[in-house]
Amino acid sequence: MPCEFDAFVFDAYGTLFDVYSVKASAERLYPGQGEALAKLWRDKQVEYTRLISLADPSAPNGSRHYMPFWDVTRRALHFSLSALGLDASEANQNQLMAEYERLSAFPEVLPVLTQLKKEGHQIVILSNGNQSMLGKAVESAGLTALIHRVLGVDTLRQFKIMPGVYDLIFQDTDVPKEKVLFVSSNGWDVLGANWYGLNTFWVNRQGLPFESLGPPPRFQGNDLNGLLALG
Ligand code: LAC
Repeated sequence: MPCEFDAFVFDAYGTLFDVYSVKASAERLYPGQGEALAKLWRDKQVEYTRLISLADPSAPNGSRHYMPFWDVTRRALHFSLSALGLDASEANQNQLMAEYERLSAFPEVLPVLTQLKKEGHQIVILSNGNQSMLGKAVESAGLTALIHRVLGVDTLRQFKIMPGVYDLIFQDTDVPKEKVLFVSSNGWDVLGANWYGLNTFWVNRQGLPFESLGPPPRFQGNDLNGLLALG
């Protein structure tokens, strides 16, 4: 049976790139606190994107409070270090941000994307990240040749799950909505995409229940390998 999807649109952080891979460096800097820091850092980062978007949802040129995801990430790190009572020196922050610039991709990412591309599918990234940060992540994970388009939010100046971000998928392409599969490991992102009306695949890497709020994803799996079974 041929696959019903032409384009696979991937969230970046947590889906392709392992945001918790900073745990090891965090643990070296702050023994016993690596895990707590990695988790709080991620939670705060996502929370800040929501605050920024919600503060100014309908501004035509994006949120007045917009700052690139790189800066959001740094502010979230600063908060998390302070909240946990850890040394927030410039040197330590720089070291952890440098890690964030070259996060590991999950092990199955390269083989699965290679196979999807070989089958003729378009591979797109849609992320809250800014373009330069995403470019570095894609390059350091060796994915550059596999990705057709990397869509960041620099020009929109809003973050997912604002519907305008999902609109970016349909700029400069004639792939219709029903031929797109949106893939994310973040339950909230899958929910946003469901509400937007996309077909979704939830990569449930952490064995979590799906959000109790909305329609469930159309597909799900523990990692990206499940995508290869779709067609
Ligand atoms: C992304 C993060 C937030 O949009 O997962 O890539």
